[in-house]
Amino acid sequence: MAKGKKTVFFCQNCGYESPKWMGQCPGCRQWNTFVEEIVTTGNKALPSQGQGSAGAKNEPVALTKIQAREDDRIKTEIEELDRVLGGGIVQGSMVLVGGDPGIGKSTLLLQVCRQLSGKGHKVLYISGEESLRQIKLRAERIGKFNDQLLLLCETNLETIRNTIEKVKPEAVVIDSIQTMYNEQVSSAPGSVSQVRESTGILMQIAKGLGISVFIVGHVTKDGSVAGPRVLEHMVDTVLYFEGDRQVAYRILRSVKNRFGSTNEIGVFEMQDKGLVEVKNPSQAMLNGRPTDASGSVVVCSIEGTRPILIEIQALVTKTNFGLPRRTSVGIDYNRVNLLMAVLEKRAGLHLGDWDAYVNLAGGMRLGEPAIDLGVVMAIASSYKNKVVDEGLLIFGEVGLSGEIRGVSMAEQRVREAEKLGFTACLMPKANLDSIQGKYRIRLIGASNIKEAMEYI
Ligand code: TYD
Ligand code: MG
Repeated sequence: MAKGKKTVFFCQNCGYESPKWMGQCPGCRQWNTFVEEIVTTGNKALPSQGQGSAGAKNEPVALTKIQAREDDRIKTEIEELDRVLGGGIVQGSMVLVGGDPGIGKSTLLLQVCRQLSGKGHKVLYISGEESLRQIKLRAERIGKFNDQLLLLCETNLETIRNTIEKVKPEAVVIDSIQTMYNEQVSSAPGSVSQVRESTGILMQIAKGLGISVFIVGHVTKDGSVAGPRVLEHMVDTVLYFEGDRQVAYRILRSVKNRFGSTNEIGVFEMQDKGLVEVKNPSQAMLNGRPTDASGSVVVCSIEGTRPILIEIQALVTKTNFGLPRRTSVGIDYNRVNLLMAVLEKRAGLHLGDWDAYVNLAGGMRLGEPAIDLGVVMAIASSYKNKVVDEGLLIFGEVGLSGEIRGVSMAEQRVREAEKLGFTACLMPKANLDSIQGKYRIRLIGASNIKEAMEYI
């Protein structure tokens, strides 16, 4: 092997680097993700993230002297996206959009291009996956475009850099980073070193010319190409597109944002003319809800700054085999087991020889503890085969001794429930004082799950 080159093994999932092959990655605990790559040693460092370059004079500046204006942001007018981005696209920022193949990343970014070019900004869409014809066909489904949007099918980064410098667009879309390659790196496109190196180059371009860059990254399960996780530390904003391909709803979640809050979500629906914003997700999530079935309750979870009402369903049936089965979709499995143990011990439900299936409707995933009480009520309702009143909204965190703890932003949750026509709220007693009397909706406070059981 030539001098200055060595082989290392990279985890294709998280980018963990190791001198030898390993079956399981110590970083992310995934199996069989290590792939050998040749790297050149002793070469250039990563590009600096700021404006200054190594050779130029770079003096410290007083923080108060630096000018930054909020109106440096470009609004896409796709409200769900603007909110997730923290109020629009920041000039010169780099946004990574990750998600499973086929979830709608290219569609969303083409729609962003349409909005930006419609407002007179010059946009360059670079695709390494689809031909110009394919993009045109998709664009025809989405709507009318003007000639401020330029397309380029290219995977060589040197050509891309030259084109960007020549065209000088205000925003660039790279679809996808896993298809891009740099001749200086000897490993194949999609490998960890290629993906990192390509992102580094794009970052230089973005910061140097003040261009906003969107990068698409596929999430892959088999580990043959590097996932977007290996880039998370390099970019400014990381958005993930979640949802089932079979379910029409798509959730855009921000997991890192240097210019806004994380955990903000945007909800979209995939239709035949592209992604359509869902302005009132609670209403959409509750559509088609059974009204007289046991095991169905509605909970309220705060996602970012917005309350979302969603239905939790539980089905508890007698175990046919020795070991009871527990399944949960959209809610943490261990949390469900914990809550069932609390029900068993503190409310006297004998769940030991019963199977339990817990499901969150609409393909959503929630992790907020405030949905605990909803899970508990759904399981108990199915177990007793008694219906919970359809006009009752439930929220509260459940502790190990069966106590119901107060949650944050209780007032927003009550307000959303009232807005959507619910008649009562079952909530933590601790939250009651601050809200009592402000709303017409009936508020029921409970301090432990035994008290809550009376409403089944
Ligand atoms: P796409 O954006 O190509 O996914 P990704 O870039 O994340 O791989 O989305 C592809 C899916 O979306 C595909 O299955 C077709 C569907 N789709 C619609 O249902 N309606 C539409 O208007 C468009 C453009 C795509
Ligand atoms: Mg695509």
